[in-house]
Amino acid sequence: MAEQNVVLNNLTFELHIQNSEIELRITQLAKLLAKGHSNANPLFISVLNGSFIFAADLLRQLDFACEIEFVKVSSYAGTQSTREVKQVLGLSKSIENRTVIILEDIIDSGLTMDFLLCDLARFKPKQIEICTLLLKPEALKVKLPVNYIGFEVANDFLVGYGLDYDGHGRNLPHIYKAV
Ligand code: IMP
Ligand code: MG
Repeated sequence: MAEQNVVLNNLTFELHIQNSEIELRITQLAKLLAKGHSNANPLFISVLNGSFIFAADLLRQLDFACEIEFVKVSSYAGTQSTREVKQVLGLSKSIENRTVIILEDIIDSGLTMDFLLCDLARFKPKQIEICTLLLKPEALKVKLPVNYIGFEVANDFLVGYGLDYDGHGRNLPHIYKAV
């Protein structure tokens, strides 16, 4: 049984999406990805830190040739998205002429993803698609072509399954929302 409430740094969170639901959705996403890309040897780019669990679970559901790289773009502190977005770190492989699929835990304002798209486009990939576990449509500040979405969620602050609140809660198997 999942805990109904968790407390992190004195903030209470309530159960929002059970791990079993996440697993099911990931299986569906894997099927959609196979349809679109099973012959393309896509390069997945997982955005650290938040997407490490999503990326690990998704990749193990893919039964076609693919590769993965991890990058870091820090832009977030506390429960409010900051405006400034820093640089992309850690890309060690050429993406020229590759099918690139960015894996993100959550798209909030969309500024991080917008920056990533522009930055990666400089290296001339064949195409770039976006696959995010969570999307907050009401929080979006820019137009983004999001190709694969696990769950659309309200404008709440979420933790668990890789998502953190000031560093805590990434290890929770389920997703919780701030009360
Ligand atoms: P954006 O640039 O506002 O779209 O924010 C993207 C990044 O902020 C995500 O990759 C997350 O790391 C973080 N973030 C956004 N919303 C949440 C949330 O509800 N919980 C935890 N992290 C979040
Ligand atoms: Mg993230």
